[in-house]
Amino acid sequence: MLPFISYIQGRLTIDGVGAESLAASFGTPLYVYSANAVRERFAQLQAAFAPLRPTICYAIKANSNIHLCRLLASLGAGMDVVSGGELERAWLSGVPMSNVVFAGTGKAESEILAALVGSKSPLVGTLPVTIAPPDNRGPVGWFNVESEQELERIARIAQTQGVVARCALRVNPDVDAKTHKFTTTGKHENKFGVPIERAVAIFERFRDHRSVFLRGLHCHLGSPIATPTPYVEGLRALTALMDRLETQKIPIQSLNIGGGFGVDYGNNAVEPIESFAHAINPLLADRVERGLRVIIEPGRWIIANAGVLLTRIQYIKDAGTASDANAEMTRTFAICDAGVHTLIRPALYNAHHTIWPAITTPELALNSLTPDAHISPTELLAYDVVGPICESTDFLAKARLMPKLSQGDLLAVFSAGAYGMSMASTYNDHPKPAEVMVDSQRVIRIRARQTAFSLIADELAPG
Ligand code: LLP
Repeated sequence: MLPFISYIQGRLTIDGVGAESLAASFGTPLYVYSANAVRERFAQLQAAFAPLRPTICYAIKANSNIHLCRLLASLGAGMDVVSGGELERAWLSGVPMSNVVFAGTGKAESEILAALVGSKSPLVGTLPVTIAPPDNRGPVGWFNVESEQELERIARIAQTQGVVARCALRVNPDVDAKTHKFTTTGKHENKFGVPIERAVAIFERFRDHRSVFLRGLHCHLGSPIATPTPYVEGLRALTALMDRLETQKIPIQSLNIGGGFGVDYGNNAVEPIESFAHAINPLLADRVERGLRVIIEPGRWIIANAGVLLTRIQYIKDAGTASDANAEMTRTFAICDAGVHTLIRPALYNAHHTIWPAITTPELALNSLTPDAHISPTELLAYDVVGPICESTDFLAKARLMPKLSQGDLLAVFSAGAYGMSMASTYNDHPKPAEVMVDSQRVIRIRARQTAFSLIADELAPG
């Protein structure tokens, strides 16, 4: 169904291990990832963009678990980080700092310092890991700079430290990524980047700066993006800008085209990664031959469909039939131990995640993320899949057709590897879930379930 996540005789398995046995061992809610799926997705991405020989900087924000970061680092990924915390994770995962890009609209002075010299990082010394000290770990490969004032701040700090900051200017080309308005970043009204028409002046201003090497361009239009069209539109504007800069004797050395490649969520028509690559590669191949370094920074595409969220149904509540403004509606709630605090995407973006019982009959097992492709709706009932949180936005799905559910059933929420755990909260004082990685039938707990004590530990007054 998905790489390494599939039903075998009606039972969901991840890398060969049954979902039900994982839930029994580690409890629920539980995030489960397939290491082989991560490897396969990464290899597919590399193959698709091979003509550009890009540096693939994994967007840590999609899923920041250090073990997943380490796995990706071992495959040769660089990292895209957006905070001092993510910077430390990138470093701890073993990625050379030169393959790290530091993005984010609000970089604090301490974060810039940490990205430049490492040893001044506010986190150093507080980490409970036995690892070589970070002295001389070197500056990040590129700062993705979001404003002129940020560039001034980076320049000042780099000058004080006697180092040179390599910078890429993030430009906003005013291109519509045709995604949810909360996740569109390349339109004029979005806070990201500088308007593309101001870019030349900024490059000229910093052309000969002693502490800033401004020779990179960056653009990220939004995510998830379903077709290559916005990338093509954005790249036309970027390559025109590069040509203009070239005539001003400011040759661009590195072009970061962002992330955002859409994935199959079961309800959406998204083109395969090869289509994106076929549209993008020809626009840049010549420039790569002439020495341009291309960077891509996907998160979701690598990890979303390598992960699944397991949740146990606590109660089934039949709320009867109510007379809605539009129609007579029968509401049955499947109240789970996961909810908006575990996976916020449905509440925040009205995002669809396919949800299905982890154990069912072979006939009702899924063989794709689109259940109605092969299962007759007459065998299904409509459920609102909700959680334990005291908010009406606490839902994972509404009026979703599924086989008949019962109290105690285990549900699988698919495509949950990206922006699931990384956006989870402890709202209502629910501890965060555990995470496990399955690697060729080997089960590795990569995060312990949070304890109730740790929820209040930071609040205990000293003494
Ligand atoms: N680069 C930049 C500058 C970004 O802002 C993002 C995502 C990425 C790369 C990675 O995008 P990806 O390849 O993972 O789609 N929380 C939302 C998505 C917001 C992503 C924010 N930036 C979600 O759950 O869909």
